[in-house]
Amino acid sequence: MPCVMEEMFVDVGIGVVGCGYWGPNLVRNLAQTRGAKLLACCDLETSRLDWVRQGYPAVKVTADFQELLGDKQIDAIAIATPISTHYALVKQALKAGKHVLVAKPLAQSVAECQELQALAVRNNCVLLVDHTFLYTGAVRKIKELMDAGDLGDIYYYDSVRINLGLFQHDTNVIWDLAPHDIAIMIHLLGMVPERVLAVGASHVNEQVENIAYVTMMFRERLLAHLHVNWLAPAKVRRTIIGGSKRMVVYDDMDMSEKVKIYDSGAKLSNDPAHIYRTMVEYRTGDMYAPKIDKTEALAEECRHFVACIRDGADPISGAVLATQVVGIIEAADRSLKMGGSMEHLHRPFVPEIAAAAAS
Ligand SMILES: NC(=O)c1ccc[n+]([C@@H]2O[C@H](COP(=O)([O-])OP(=O)(O)OC[C@H]3O[C@@H](n4cnc5c(N)ncnc54)[C@H](O)[C@@H]3O)[C@@H](O)[C@H]2O)c1
Repeated sequence: MPCVMEEMFVDVGIGVVGCGYWGPNLVRNLAQTRGAKLLACCDLETSRLDWVRQGYPAVKVTADFQELLGDKQIDAIAIATPISTHYALVKQALKAGKHVLVAKPLAQSVAECQELQALAVRNNCVLLVDHTFLYTGAVRKIKELMDAGDLGDIYYYDSVRINLGLFQHDTNVIWDLAPHDIAIMIHLLGMVPERVLAVGASHVNEQVENIAYVTMMFRERLLAHLHVNWLAPAKVRRTIIGGSKRMVVYDDMDMSEKVKIYDSGAKLSNDPAHIYRTMVEYRTGDMYAPKIDKTEALAEECRHFVACIRDGADPISGAVLATQVVGIIEAADRSLKMGGSMEHLHRPFVPEIAAAAAS
């Protein structure tokens, strides 16, 4: 049963906190989500509240988060404030019995995430983390193909997410951009890495790394690599997933063919004529680009949030996945600060590894 809704099938009353850069996307989508009613918006900046007043005159505005918490008509709160504020705001919202949709990443440490997860369970509240890309047609299509075994055994996951800015003031480029790729990677592979190492550098603000290379090692020779950068002249959002049967190129900047499936691969063959020479046979077959659902990811995510509140279901991007994301980022950040140390993810935040270690 949902926590504060008294009966099913009434609109879920929603409040949004944080209406800066990302918040307006949540405001727009939640205002249009069937089964939801946007009731109030909160921001510390008067100019942001003016923006809400202009576009949504029926929506209450306030600079005081406590007002949202005390409003009995508000069943759920969407939070799009800077990362350093997530833990405190999510905690207060859950304690007040509100369902929560919070921008990525959930919090700044695994310990904080676990506390929030436990609180959500205890108070019977949905906690959905806005790992937006999981709700895109492209990622949903790739997941469908991978779950059906179309790519075969997965060999590597290689992702580039670079552009010029936006520099965040309270966090580095790993905390800002890598949650996207790590969430997509965990979601698609259905597992988490065992080891992580990262290197990076600060070129603009000495305290904040603006470029990083993150390498992750899984069991069974599966490797993943991320390149995240706020100081690149062009926007690149490209992921390559190599499998034993097929390979995928996911280019989020390609408007017409975001996902391409290549029937390419290689295998060893021993040439009987040259007994000491091992030959590599390459296969370069067809490429096709499947049809991708173009529904806006946030619209899909907001619909899912409301459905989870109504059905009491676990969100696709719930606290478990979000905690795994934060655990990997925490380890990558630790490695980066140590100049590229190998960090082992043996902590219990990774249920799969914890279970393997226990057996
Ligand atoms: N999913 C995505 O693609 C995506 C993209 C960009 C940002 N984000 C996430 O969105 C979040 C916000 O990022 P942003 O770029 O919009 O930041 P921002 O600084 O542009 O906006 C944050 C807003 O929150 C307000 N705020 C801060 N503390 C508050 C408080 N206690 N009460 C009320 N209002 C408060 C600020 O006044 C500001 O208007 C971050 O977690 C970021 O990671 C997600």
